Amino acid sequence: MAQLTLEGINKVYPDGAHIIKNANLHIEDGEFTVFVGPSGCGKSTMLRMVAGLEEISSGDMKLDGEVVNNLSPNERGIGMVFQSYALYPHMTIYENIEFGLKLAKKLSKEEIEQAVNRVAEMLELTHLLGQKPSQLSGGQRQRVAIGRAIVRNPTLFLLDEPLSNLDAALRVRMRLQLADYHKELKSTVIYVTHDQVEAMTLADKIVVLRDGIVEQVGSPLELYHFPQTLFVAGFIGSPKMNQLAGTVINADAQHAAVEIEGCEAHAQVDASLLNQGESVTLGIRPEDVELANDGLPVRVISVEQLGTESLLYTQIVDSDQELLVRVPGTMAAERHAVLRVQLPSDKCHLFDSNEKALKRNIKMEDLVELPPQLTTETN
Ligand SMILES: Nc1ncnc2c1ncn2[C@@H]1O[C@H](COP(=O)(O)OP(=O)(O)OP(=O)(O)O)[C@@H](O)[C@H]1O
Ligand SMILES: [Mg+2]
Repeated sequence: MAQLTLEGINKVYPDGAHIIKNANLHIEDGEFTVFVGPSGCGKSTMLRMVAGLEEISSGDMKLDGEVVNNLSPNERGIGMVFQSYALYPHMTIYENIEFGLKLAKKLSKEEIEQAVNRVAEMLELTHLLGQKPSQLSGGQRQRVAIGRAIVRNPTLFLLDEPLSNLDAALRVRMRLQLADYHKELKSTVIYVTHDQVEAMTLADKIVVLRDGIVEQVGSPLELYHFPQTLFVAGFIGSPKMNQLAGTVINADAQHAAVEIEGCEAHAQVDASLLNQGESVTLGIRPEDVELANDGLPVRVISVEQLGTESLLYTQIVDSDQELLVRVPGTMAAERHAVLRVQLPSDKCHLFDSNEKALKRNIKMEDLVELPPQLTTETN
């Protein structure tokens, strides 16, 4: 059991650098939380403060309701895998994994053996148990570091970019295994990653950090469909959401009409606070832009063919505004061709001049589509 609450947490280094700014966050017992954000925004610092490796300058850190600001890492019962991991070079892989376990609990030799073997199997390390770290590749060592933390079955498990050294195929396998591991053991996890797919697939909750500030917290699909700021809109989703500069023509609580380079686009948002002539940013994901016979004219600048889909990098005609369009891989699109696109109003996001999103007049339930179901006739 581990519930974590951060209340007004700040981190100021002795050199005066204010790295974490008034962070408030609640993580439920058993939740898989993912921290994302640009390099240097404070993800590792936050994690190290949770672990007890970094002093908290002000604010309260609570584990299951108890303030733990002054508890040592061991007293917090936390398992951690670092961005740069360190194994004991003189010990075998078996001993490295076993070490974490011996520290934490009193167990019989058989229990220890069972636990180490189980973790080794899960991490595909069984054949390496007798080796020394120096005989392993970087990816293999990283898996040992994960094993050493997992084997203790910690109530709170912190992972800082644990898969970053692995090749693509192994990353996918490890991602699925971590998801299984979490479902099985239900420990509370905080996971830092730069990888969009890891964040979207593993997280119950994503925390977007920006320059030491918690920018938005929500489920992966909440952040994807309802980003509250332009920053989150640009950060969640790959390739990123298109952002077009426009001015308000008409606005009410149900919708806004926006002029973009002489063309009109509409967004189903509560725009009652917008004024005519105001500058706004219209956001639309590349997969939501529709090719049509009329609409906004765009010129194809380059094409990336990915097989299942193609990415058309376009520019609005007579303008320097760019628009990325995602089309099926079977569509033959040529460089320099001029196409016309529609921006469906229910897919458009709108951001005011402070980069805050206007509330969409659409709910998560509206976005759910059910697949056609096969009915089995019994008679
Ligand atoms: N001891 C220190 N003294 C002063 N500033 C520090 C110290 N340690 C880290 N920082 C600064 O804190 C900021 C946040 O660093 P942190 O390692 O938390 O970033 P991060 O989000 O984990 O980045 P990355 O994605 O690159 O791992 C950086 O600007 C870094 O320079
Ligand atoms: Mg980091």
